[in-house]
Amino acid sequence: MRPLVFAHPSSVVLQQALLETLPGEPGTMQLRRFPDGESFVRVETPVAGREVVLAWNLDRPDDKMIALYLLCQALREQGARRVVLAAPYLPYMRQDHIFHPGETISARHFAHWLSGFVDALVTMDPHLHRIHDLGEVYSIPSRVVPAAPAVAAWIREQVSAPLLIGPDAESEQWVADVAGRAGAPHQVLRKVRRGDREVEVSVPEVERWRDHTPVLVDDIISTARTMIAALAHLRTAGLPPAVCVGVHAIFAGDAYPALQSAEPAAIVSCDTITHPSNAIAVGALVAEAVAELLNPL
Ligand code: R5P
Repeated sequence: MRPLVFAHPSSVVLQQALLETLPGEPGTMQLRRFPDGESFVRVETPVAGREVVLAWNLDRPDDKMIALYLLCQALREQGARRVVLAAPYLPYMRQDHIFHPGETISARHFAHWLSGFVDALVTMDPHLHRIHDLGEVYSIPSRVVPAAPAVAAWIREQVSAPLLIGPDAESEQWVADVAGRAGAPHQVLRKVRRGDREVEVSVPEVERWRDHTPVLVDDIISTARTMIAALAHLRTAGLPPAVCVGVHAIFAGDAYPALQSAEPAAIVSCDTITHPSNAIAVGALVAEAVAELLNPL
């Protein structure tokens, strides 16, 4: 029997990719808010004995988690065999450390909560920094889909003479991978400390790259301040306007117009989160990983 695919209203493009790739059947449900703001969920499609996949992206997670939790409970109570969550953007991964006294490692607690009510997870490029593997915090099977092949393919087709640039040392591994696949050179912005309160970010060997198109790549664009600062440094270094590529286009608050005001050559993202900057479709890649998880060889 085909898996049933339910979707949060923000994730219908991913639902379509899942329906085509698995292939699956759409599940129907009611999802709304009571006048007091509480979430209401009613599963309408019979799910007893069925595999269920949820297309449920988790950007702005605080708005979506309660409904997801209630939906999973309802599915289980009605006999669903297994509930697999396809969430291309996995939130709370950046609070992976106690930075100041009194904080907590939210990534751990969020993972513990989610692991308690879904059976498996498929996501794309989660922010793995101090946590090196999802298995360190998630106790359920998970698949991580890399965005690098899709990002590299877009760069190969759309950018002439690209020079890939990571905005900070953390991005080195990822940027090197994308660059290798795109057949392009890469650089990582380097912090040079000139004094206690004077830090400069530089592009090493800038002269060599003046005839290249800089392409800034990062996993997440949230406030866009990282991209804006990097753009300013590249401009100061005398490079042409950079193309900004982000995997997860969160663009919190005024981030998108603020980044546009910094006048990059283009702003491009994967469609893990629906946003006007989406130019790299990754739904089929996520759907293939869900299919592999449901039907391991
Ligand atoms: C941080 O380590 C990430 O890789 C991104 O560089 C960061 O999340 C971007 O955040 P923002 O857009 O708020 O500067």
